[in-house]
Amino acid sequence: MNPTIQNQLNHRSIRKFKNIPLTSEEVNLLVDVARHTSSSSFMQSYSILSVTDPEKKAKVAVIGNQKYIAESGHLFIMLADQHRNQLIAEEQGFDTDVLGSFDRFFVASTDAILAAQNILLAAEAMGLGGVFLGSVLNHADQLIELFNLPKHVVPVLGIALGHPDQAPQLKPRLPREIMHFENTYPKLENVCEALKDYDAIVHEYYDLRDANNRVDEFTTQIAKGMTRKHPGRMQLLKFFQGQGFIQY
Ligand SMILES: Cc1cc2nc3c(=O)[nH]c(=O)nc-3n(C[C@H](O)[C@H](O)[C@H](O)COP(=O)(O)O)c2cc1C
Repeated sequence: MNPTIQNQLNHRSIRKFKNIPLTSEEVNLLVDVARHTSSSSFMQSYSILSVTDPEKKAKVAVIGNQKYIAESGHLFIMLADQHRNQLIAEEQGFDTDVLGSFDRFFVASTDAILAAQNILLAAEAMGLGGVFLGSVLNHADQLIELFNLPKHVVPVLGIALGHPDQAPQLKPRLPREIMHFENTYPKLENVCEALKDYDAIVHEYYDLRDANNRVDEFTTQIAKGMTRKHPGRMQLLKFFQGQGFIQY
């Protein structure tokens, strides 16, 4: 098997790390990998924040309510960033009203998130492990303040990385036929029934992971997930609008 693809197929999130910080060479290499990610219209409208101050890292762990954030060997926060491009345009006398459009927010987020995936894959290829942290958005307003983010910059995803101190099993994914379509979107019916086998596989995965902590089947998890409305996450639009994004 091609080693790149083997690395991709072996992906699993790591949430327990040895107490070994990443070296500056490792961090620089990961940032270089990110820098080579494709970027919408070559605008490179994202930035990467390394959180090396232990106090700030601890605060992010509180915001995310996940202690492994503080225990990681390195913490990146991916930023959708149109600030730099705004300055470039303004210095040349151009109007930057377009940065308030949903489109310019979306492309900046896309750039940041694609770069994030490259960082995690590269870290895994280096024998490191990590996990994405959507939880950094639990209180985006606090992150904006903590890191002094200017207008047209918002956090979109965290990445906790480190030397793995656990070897989790591969998490089973949806069957191909329910998420890969050809030419047209099919009429989906009796989805729970169609996912019966997958439900059983996911259930077994959780049982093997921790028999004392029984977790719902996949379809039940999805349904219950619809009732989850984190108060901070429900205000994301407001916080992002406060940063000048998504005005129209
Ligand atoms: C956008 C995004 C946000 C995520 N946020 C978190 C998070 O805040 N905390 C966490 O422990 N895992 C987080 N994850 C990891 C997912 O839970 C994980 O990828 C998923 O359960 C599949 O498991 P695997 O990565 O081990 O295959 C996130 C993943 C993505 C793609």
